[in-house]
Amino acid sequence: MFAAGTYIKRRKRLQSDIQSGLILLLGNDESPMNYPDNAFSFRQDSTFAYFFGLYQPGLAAIIDVDEQRECVFGEDVTVDEVIWTGPQPTVKDRCSAIGVRDTASLDKLQPILKGALAKGRQVHILPQYRGRSILQICELFGIGPAELGEYVSEELIRAVVAQRSVKSDEEIREIEAALDIAYEMQTTAMRTARPGLYEREVAGAMEGIAISRGGRLSFPTIFSIHGETLHNHCHGNIMSEGDIAVNDCGAETALGYASDITRTISVGGRFSQKQREIYSVVLDAQQKAIEAIGPGIEFRSVHRLAAGVLLSGLKGLGLVKGDVDEALEAGAHALFFPCGLGHMMGLDVHDMEGLGEDYVGYSDTVLRNPAFGWRSLRLGKALEPGYVITVEPGIYFIGQLIDRWRSEKTCESFIDYNTVEKYKDFGGIRIEDDIVVTESGRRVLGRGIPKTIDEVEGAWS
Ligand code: GLY
Ligand code: MN
Ligand code: MN
Repeated sequence: MFAAGTYIKRRKRLQSDIQSGLILLLGNDESPMNYPDNAFSFRQDSTFAYFFGLYQPGLAAIIDVDEQRECVFGEDVTVDEVIWTGPQPTVKDRCSAIGVRDTASLDKLQPILKGALAKGRQVHILPQYRGRSILQICELFGIGPAELGEYVSEELIRAVVAQRSVKSDEEIREIEAALDIAYEMQTTAMRTARPGLYEREVAGAMEGIAISRGGRLSFPTIFSIHGETLHNHCHGNIMSEGDIAVNDCGAETALGYASDITRTISVGGRFSQKQREIYSVVLDAQQKAIEAIGPGIEFRSVHRLAAGVLLSGLKGLGLVKGDVDEALEAGAHALFFPCGLGHMMGLDVHDMEGLGEDYVGYSDTVLRNPAFGWRSLRLGKALEPGYVITVEPGIYFIGQLIDRWRSEKTCESFIDYNTVEKYKDFGGIRIEDDIVVTESGRRVLGRGIPKTIDEVEGAWS
């Protein structure tokens, strides 16, 4: 964990950002895999970790804004439990390390909350994403799941998002530690992907690296020769000479800070001419997008810029025709790039998505565009120094989408469907890096992972 001062400062600011009432923050509990004692690897709730730096299951906390008090609720392990868990610090000891004086057992939580609600005080909660947490809050409040939404506090969401969005230097260092692990994962994949191997052999080796470095995966690895499927978590294909594989993977540190990197590699070590051409277009879009990033720049304009570069490149290869600006306006790019250019990243790989993407990526003046492709852009608003974001353009040839657009004659004045047909078995290419917005522009985080065609081919040998 960070030093106590970090967490004290974060909680103080949260307290001052909320007008009045109580803030209830729930930590995560164990999540059983197939029976209660066989749980998934424990992952703390990111907001709880952000404000309390405690990484044990079964904790909750209240910050009383009006009385300026805070208390962490949880149970110490009993001797019977120590037999199975080994000796554990008490909740009190853990809390003193993060600057919280008051602790209590979990059964004290309900009387405090019910008492506050009975007095008409507001209890602020965040949206919940785990069934068990939903049930816990319902039980605490004496309500049904359908009523939970009434207690979700927009004021609290906005305060948490405002604070977590801007990363401090020590957070950036953690993210770069996660990127060091991603570097090893990516370069290992470049060295080991070979014709005749299953994708899972590479994916497994990468997961082993994340775990052996004291972290874990920041999201389920996407390693696939079917890179046209954006979030393809299946690793069951045998790789062949001539295949390209999209490798979108990342690690998180013990504190939970993520990395999220994509490289597209040639399984046989050499890209074909056709692959080189598409790769160069994606790389050009990524480099131009990164160069455009800076404080005050709306990320939706960077997305538009990248989409325009993709269209121009595809026009040069004969897949797109007509005026590129008009094609962009008509949304023609979304046939090849049906997703967003990037997202915020931090303690969650899609940072704070659980709090509501529009709070994180949009604002009162920059609203999500509902058009196909644009609607999947997770981040559109103006960037600020300290934001950590991904830049991940791609070109994807999705057979069923091509068939649908062609049969519906979508954008037919901008797309040469006869040429596109010849790419239906191409797969996809994505290139992704993690960037911090600085006062003067941007910095690509982490060690440079091979990215140009020459670098990626050179890493294979
Ligand atoms: N790793 C998933 C993504 O890039 O959004
Ligand atoms: Mn990403
Ligand atoms: Mn990714």
